[in-house]
Amino acid sequence: MFKAQQQSKFEPSRDNLAVQIQRLNYFFGAGDLSKQVLFDISLELPKGQIVILTGPSGSGKTTLLTLAGALRRLQEGSLRVLGQELVGLGDRALVNIRRNIGFIFQAHNLFESLTASQNVEMAVELTGDFASKRQQAVAMLSALGLDDRVDYKPQSLSGGQKQRVAIARALVNHPKLILADEPTAALDKKSGRDVVNYLHNLSREEGCTVLMVTHDNRILDVADRIINLVDGRLESDSSLNAFVQSKTKDSLTDISADMFIM
Ligand SMILES: Nc1ncnc2c1ncn2[C@@H]1O[C@H](COP(=O)(O)OP(=O)(O)OP(=O)(O)O)[C@@H](O)[C@H]1O
Ligand SMILES: [Mg+2]
Repeated sequence: MFKAQQQSKFEPSRDNLAVQIQRLNYFFGAGDLSKQVLFDISLELPKGQIVILTGPSGSGKTTLLTLAGALRRLQEGSLRVLGQELVGLGDRALVNIRRNIGFIFQAHNLFESLTASQNVEMAVELTGDFASKRQQAVAMLSALGLDDRVDYKPQSLSGGQKQRVAIARALVNHPKLILADEPTAALDKKSGRDVVNYLHNLSREEGCTVLMVTHDNRILDVADRIINLVDGRLESDSSLNAFVQSKTKDSLTDISADMFIM
C-alpha cells in the first residue's frame, strides 16, 4: 500500500533547514481569556523534505502553519524560516519572507472577476515577470489538469477546480517552502493525486520543502516524515517507514481510526 521512501540524506545543520522552531508557545486571547494552543514545540524541517502534519481537530495544526508562514507573530520561542529569524522582524521583512512561501489554504480567496489564468498571473506579476505570465500560468494550470478551464471565472468552476487554481497560484513562482492546509480535501481521488504528485516532483526537482496538513491517508506515501500534534503538543515524529512499521497491517487499512481523527 505504501511506497517505501528513501531516508532523508540531510544533516541537521542550520544551513540546510528550511524551518527551525525552538520552544514555541502560542496563546490566543489576552488576560484571563488567554488560552494556550501550542506548547513547547521544537521542530526542524530540512530543506527538500515533505512533512505531513496530522492530529485531531483543534490540536493547533493551522496555527502552527500560519506561524511558520510568518502570517502570525511569534509570542514565545524562536522561529527561523528560510534562514531568517522571524522574532523582531518588521512588516516589510516579513512580507519578503512570505514571497518565498507558497500557501495553500482552504479558503482559496480567488478574485471572482478574474479568470483562472488571470488569478494565477497575478502571482507571477509579483515577481516582476510580465512577459511570460500568461504562459507560466497556463503551464501551471495544465499541470494540475485545468488546461480546459484556464479562461473560466471562479463562479463557473467546481469547488475542487477552484482549489486547484489556488494551488496553481501558490506554486507558480516555485516557492522554497510550501505550507498546505488540507490541500486535497476538496478534490476527488485523481485530482488529489495529481496535486501531491506535483508537490512531490517539485520537492525532488527543486528541493523545496513541504509542510502539509492532511487527513487523507491516500497521499501518505509522498511523505518523508509524519508528525502528529495532539492538544498543541508534538506527540510523535517519525519517518514514513517507521510510521508504517509501527502499524499492524489491519490498523494501516484503518489509519483514520487513530491518527486521523477528524
Ligand atoms: N483566532 C482564534 N482565536 C481564538 N482561538 C482560536 C483562533 N483560531 C484557532 N483558535 C483555537 O486554537 C486551537 C487550535 O486551532 P487550529 O485551527 O490551529 O486547529 P487545527 O488543528 O487546525 O484544527 P482543524 O483540524 O479543525 O482545522 C483551537 O482550540 C481553536 O479553537
Ligand atoms: Mg486547521
